[in-house]
Amino acid sequence: MADRYASFAHSGPGRAVIRRLGLPDPPKLHRHRPGEPLVSGPVLLDGAPGGRVGDAVAKLLAAAGVELAEPAPRPLPDRPRLYAGLVFDATGITDPAGLRALYDFFHPYLRSLYPNGRVVVLGTEPAAADGAAGTAAQQALEGFTRSLAKELRRGATGQLVQIGPGAEQNLESTLRFLLSARSAYVTGQVLQLQAAPVAVPADWDRPLAGKIALVTGAAGGIGAATAQVLARDGAQLVCLDLAAAGDALAAVTNQVGGTAVQLDLTASEAPGRLAEHLAGRFGRVDVVAHVAGITRDRTLARMQPDGWDQVLEVNLAAVARATEALLAAELVPDGGRLVAVSSVSGIAGNRGQTNYGASKAGLVGLVRGLAGELAGRRVTANAVAPGFIETPMTAQMPRVPRELARRLNSLAQAGQPVDVAEAIAWLASPGSGGVTGQVLRVCGQSLLGA
Ligand SMILES: NC(=O)c1ccc[n+]([C@@H]2O[C@H](COP(=O)([O-])OP(=O)(O)OC[C@H]3O[C@@H](n4cnc5c(N)ncnc54)[C@H](O)[C@@H]3O)[C@@H](O)[C@H]2O)c1
Repeated sequence: MADRYASFAHSGPGRAVIRRLGLPDPPKLHRHRPGEPLVSGPVLLDGAPGGRVGDAVAKLLAAAGVELAEPAPRPLPDRPRLYAGLVFDATGITDPAGLRALYDFFHPYLRSLYPNGRVVVLGTEPAAADGAAGTAAQQALEGFTRSLAKELRRGATGQLVQIGPGAEQNLESTLRFLLSARSAYVTGQVLQLQAAPVAVPADWDRPLAGKIALVTGAAGGIGAATAQVLARDGAQLVCLDLAAAGDALAAVTNQVGGTAVQLDLTASEAPGRLAEHLAGRFGRVDVVAHVAGITRDRTLARMQPDGWDQVLEVNLAAVARATEALLAAELVPDGGRLVAVSSVSGIAGNRGQTNYGASKAGLVGLVRGLAGELAGRRVTANAVAPGFIETPMTAQMPRVPRELARRLNSLAQAGQPVDVAEAIAWLASPGSGGVTGQVLRVCGQSLLGA
């Protein structure tokens, strides 16, 4: 379903009207194209005194070919240099007074960000900070970053990465995602990075080379985009969907050079058949992306029992059973990656979606449980929670709620399936071993998903 308002806003006359009336002004988001550099210009890196990650970040960005800039002497010239990214190491902030360093760094440079620029604040996990004053200071970074993200303009995004003790060496995959155009629709998010043995990809453009990836719900929407992005990143794809979606599934599978599995995941024999297929063809599955999902929206008072049952079955129970079967058959090797597609409705709740909200919150619980159980084998389990994404599912929504959902986020537009796919690909990367048990919202900082 075309976003006519955004097309109007991007036209010359439309832009003038929108500005004059103070209407939401959706910026043109730049998305990653293969062969592009990690960032499109210089990155300014600075930090509060005593920070523990700045040096490691400088080294890894320089090795990745990023042009690093030093802060200019103050006052800044009238026509200051422009930056593609502002990265601030705030790990050295140990008490509330130290928070002034955020103001001092960001205030003069915010007008010097490229369109689609990137802001990344690096902090310490508040629980690992020193004493109450340290915990307060590190927690403050969350409110700062989420608020700043709401002030950024022209497609710029801002995130906070909380780096656990010993996790300094695991930053590369996460920084590459957050600084690049791969995270175009991710903003205002807080991620935790843990210490873990991490495999560094030989080629960051094909981090999944040699990996087998299963994508459920691959016939269309977010699932099809996920299959395409994982294939771009080098994975060999197994694409699963209902027999009723067979033609679309075949088209996606051909496009990515993968194999198709027609299966209703809710069928009692589905977990066994899936495990058998993967065991027979490949002997393993390195990446499992649970994308299949349905909605049957009604307020609880009006909901029929099968509307409840179907949603809980497809979105949660079938996912849990399939995962259990793959793990029981020992098909997920050490270092495997499990990713489930949740929803902001599962985080913030949504009227008319008690069934869907329960199923999607359940998925968050599932990945957290799996992350704990599988940590010893370096298998990670995470969820992505999309906001409003342009897919066949959301095209069915009534016009007014659809238009509201498109605008009520910091980027004033809906996301594209590829935005969710890029987040899944980042979590699937061998370099992302320090990220587990987490939920990343891909929602343009939706006001509906607090
Ligand atoms: N589109 C959004 O805005 C949005 C927002 C939040 C979360 N999500 C979630 O993202 C996922 C993908 O959504 P989408 O918008 O691409 O939807 P979609 O309807 O385009 O795709 C879902 C796919 O899942 C398949 N599927 C459904 N039941 C199945 C079953 N029993 N077995 C196997 N396959 C089955 C469908 O055939 C379909 O191809 C879903 O889990 C959805 O809940 C979407």
